[in-house]
Amino acid sequence: MFNVAVVGMGWWGKIIVPLLKTSKKINVSTVVEINAAGIADFAKQHGVKVVTDLQDVLKDPAIQGVVLCTPHTQHTEQIIAVANAGKHVFCEKPLSMTRADVLRAIKAVNDNKVALAVGHERRFEPPVLEAMRIIQSGELGTPLQVEANFSQDKFLALAADNWRLSGKEAPAGPMTATGIHLLDLSVGVFGEAERVFASVKQLGSQLVNGDTLAILVTFKNGGHALISAILATPFEGRFAVYCNKGWIEVRDKTHPEAPEGWVLTKTLRGGKKEVREFPPAPNVLANLEAFADAAEGRAPYPVPQSQMIANISALEAIFKSASTGTIVNVES
Ligand SMILES: NC(=O)c1ccc[n+]([C@@H]2O[C@H](COP(=O)([O-])OP(=O)(O)OC[C@H]3O[C@@H](n4cnc5c(N)ncnc54)[C@H](O)[C@@H]3O)[C@@H](O)[C@H]2O)c1
Repeated sequence: MFNVAVVGMGWWGKIIVPLLKTSKKINVSTVVEINAAGIADFAKQHGVKVVTDLQDVLKDPAIQGVVLCTPHTQHTEQIIAVANAGKHVFCEKPLSMTRADVLRAIKAVNDNKVALAVGHERRFEPPVLEAMRIIQSGELGTPLQVEANFSQDKFLALAADNWRLSGKEAPAGPMTATGIHLLDLSVGVFGEAERVFASVKQLGSQLVNGDTLAILVTFKNGGHALISAILATPFEGRFAVYCNKGWIEVRDKTHPEAPEGWVLTKTLRGGKKEVREFPPAPNVLANLEAFADAAEGRAPYPVPQSQMIANISALEAIFKSASTGTIVNVES
């Protein structure tokens, strides 16, 4: 068993620990949480030891990997600290907030010859894997344009001072919460982005950092992505890729927290719409187990580092575009 510690026992850490407890590949015995008292009951229920400082797990030779579920601005330095301790790193999205930072983080990972994985579990959803397989097979022809939407109203209940609503931790409103997953999938289709235009507005809620985000990304190879992420409307999850011989769309039936599966729709020129239903699948765990496979040398992690860098480079340009109202070139 690959032995990990999970850092940051808030919303997502408390989803990840019980999932890992079901894994045949990964064991979690320790968690790191600055507010240890707040998770005493959870720790008892799940049989994990609580420490309050990441350094404690970095010194522990029994811990082989670290899963970071902390606020966004901490990710880069924590990835570097974990890698420098010779431990494998799984970091929740976004890996970093700037291209310069993601390059520093990835350098530390590679210098220390450890694995790096990122919490973009949408890549592990069975209908997304199937859509990507079909696109890569060439059956649909050349990818032209992505249209994608990831919207939800969960954040309406957050206190106004929550870090997820701050301009520092979450620039461009919904971008680091949901939009980034769609940017990652678009990078998976098209590769490096060339330029972006992003507009964020506060139109339908008290979320002062913005609740409505529209993005146009152009890619070096010529494709576009139209990304929509809204925090003031009920859940919607849709990822569609239009190509010159057909198109394919993955639609979530419900919010991933109460999953009911997906509908995959494919249309080829001259043919009828083909619709396939996919039942719920444990894609968050699949991502974590892919991390264990990479760390223990069974298989390379399926998201290449070049795409991790491309995603964060485009993310930084989106932050700049949303704050300046201008078209921004993506650094490369
Ligand atoms: N992949 C997904 O779909 C998904 C979903 C939700 C959240 N996330 C990501 O998970 C991360 C955490 O988000 P969240 O919603 O759980 O936030 P949260 O605020 O609910 O939890 C963060 C926790 O980290 C703790 N913490 C902060 N700094 C720490 C430190 N230095 N050491 C130890 N503990 C520390 C806080 O006390 C808090 O309990 C973010 O990167 C977020 O984007 C990913």
